[in-house]
Amino acid sequence: MADTISFARGAPCPEALSGDLIARCTAEALAEDHVRILSYGTGHGYPPLRELLAADHGVPADRVFISNGSLQGFVFLLDALLERGDLIALEAPTYDRALLQAKLHGLDILPVPMEDDGLDVDALAAACAAGRVPRLLYTIPNFHNPAGTTISLEKRKALVALAEQHGFLILEDDPYGRLRFEGEALPSLFSLGGPERVIFTSSFSKTVAPGLRVGYMVAPKEIAATLAGAAGRTYISPALLSEAAIHRLVAGGGLPANIAHVTALMKERRDAMVAGLEHMPEGTRCTPPLGGFFMWLELPEGLSADDLAPQAQEAGVLYVQGSTCFLEGGHNTLRLAYSGVGPQEIAEGMRRLGGVFSRAAAGAA
Ligand SMILES: Cc1ncc(COP(=O)(O)O)c(C=O)c1O
Repeated sequence: MADTISFARGAPCPEALSGDLIARCTAEALAEDHVRILSYGTGHGYPPLRELLAADHGVPADRVFISNGSLQGFVFLLDALLERGDLIALEAPTYDRALLQAKLHGLDILPVPMEDDGLDVDALAAACAAGRVPRLLYTIPNFHNPAGTTISLEKRKALVALAEQHGFLILEDDPYGRLRFEGEALPSLFSLGGPERVIFTSSFSKTVAPGLRVGYMVAPKEIAATLAGAAGRTYISPALLSEAAIHRLVAGGGLPANIAHVTALMKERRDAMVAGLEHMPEGTRCTPPLGGFFMWLELPEGLSADDLAPQAQEAGVLYVQGSTCFLEGGHNTLRLAYSGVGPQEIAEGMRRLGGVFSRAAAGAA
C-alpha cells in the first residue's frame, strides 16, 4: 500500500519550522543573557518575554504566566479554579485534550452546541436561565479546533454580556487567530469583556514551533500568581531557553514575517483540501475555514466516521474521529488537519478518503 497520509495531527508541516531563524534567536538570546537563561528562574516564566506579552495585551506583567505549552497552563488553571463536580461549559465539539482534562478533573460538563458562526450563545443563555451557570466557559474563538469556525462579532458581544450577567469566567484559547487567510481579524473576547471577566491564553506552537513548548496566559494577578506557584512546585521554572528564543524573535520584530510564512503555507494546504471535497459523497457538510489548521466534515446520514476509520486507515488515510471531541455523539463527524502535510499529499489523501466514504454511501443507499 502507498504511504499513509495523516490528517490526524494538528501540527505545522516541516516547511513551517524555521530552524535557522530559531538558531539565530537562540544564539542572540544566549549572547545577551546566558546566566539568567541557563539558571533556574521563577514559575512565571522568562521576565523579558512576560514584559513583552503584557505590553501586547495592555496589562501589567504580573498578569502574565508563561508555561511549557498552553495546555499545561490550562491544566494548572483547572486545578486552581475548579473543584470536582464544578460546572464547566465546553463547546461541542471542543479541543479533545481540553475535554479529556475536564473529565480527568471530575468536572460536570455543560456542552454548548457549535454553529457555523461559533458557539450557540442562545443555548448557553438558556442553560444559564435554567440554573446551569458554569463557573468557567472554555472557548476557542478563531479557526476552532476541531470545527474550523470563527465566532462572529455579534456573538462575541453577546457572550461577554452573558458572562457578566451570570458572573462566570471565560477562558479564551486563541492559538490560531493570527493565521488568517481571508477577512479581517475580530476583537478578542478579552478586549471586549475585560481582563477580570476573560482569561486569555495562546501559544507559539502553531505560529512558530510546537517543540519549543511556549504558551501563556493573561489572567487576574492572583490567578497568575497561583499558576506560577503550581509551576514552581511541578517543574520549578519553565524551559527558559525556549522562552528567551521566542523573546528574541518577538523583540527583534521577526514574528510577523514568520506568521506570514506559516499562513501562506497553511492557505495553500487549506485550498488543496477544499478542492479535494469534490471526492466526498453528496450530503457531506463542511464550512471551509478562513484560517488555522483544521477542516471539519459532517458525513451524510447513515455514515459513521468512527466505523469507517479502519477502512480509511486501510486505504492509507488517518483522521481524528469527531466523536472524541464531544461528550457524547458526533459519530458522523471527523477532523481533517491540513497543517502537517503537503498539497499533493492532501489531494491524494482526499481522493482516498472520498473513495472510502463514497463506497460506504453507495452501500448505505
Ligand atoms: C485549541 C488548542 N489549545 C491548546 C493547544 C495546546 O497547545 P500547546 O502546544 O501550546 O500546549 C492546542 C494544540 O493543538 C489547541 O489546538
